[in-house]
Amino acid sequence: MSRIAVVPGSFDPVTLGHLDVIERAAKTFDEVHVLVVHNPGKTALLPIAQRVSLLEQAVADARFAGNIRVTSWSMGLLVDYCTEVGASVIVKGIRSQVDVAYETPMAIVNRDLAAVETIFMLPNPAHAHVSSSLVRQVAALGGDVAPYVPRVVSEFLQAPRD
Ligand code: PNS
Repeated sequence: MSRIAVVPGSFDPVTLGHLDVIERAAKTFDEVHVLVVHNPGKTALLPIAQRVSLLEQAVADARFAGNIRVTSWSMGLLVDYCTEVGASVIVKGIRSQVDVAYETPMAIVNRDLAAVETIFMLPNPAHAHVSSSLVRQVAALGGDVAPYVPRVVSEFLQAPRD
């Protein structure tokens, strides 16, 4: 049986920490679906389609294994997507105890809703301080985000706009 894992998130934008977790998931499972989901609790910087596009390019640039699919979901619960594609596992990256506290209730609710297990993965500690919200803030104020995000993202964020 092929094991499908879903790596969900806002990815607004994808960071090097996210990529690290995506790569670990791709080495662990037969198929990985990186799923961009709108989080109503956050003010978005990029439209969903733009986040998907940047993720696709970042995964391709990093030459990850061919078992990664990037897509988005706006049709309801995360577990509804998991059920639709036959995924039994959600993978989340954990940087600190703060992440454990944030992720644990969601993991339990997702298991209650649809018997989908969540696996916490530890990214490289080099990325422990990196978050999309920090990247959004640094980019908005004109700082260099290149150390924290894939090249395609830093180029996109730092490109002049109309
Ligand atoms: O990167 P984020 O913002 O921490 O990701 C959170 C996200 C989008 C994965 C989470 O908000 C989510 O799963 N949303 C989908 C709606 C849902 O299924 N909610 C109930 C279970 S927690």
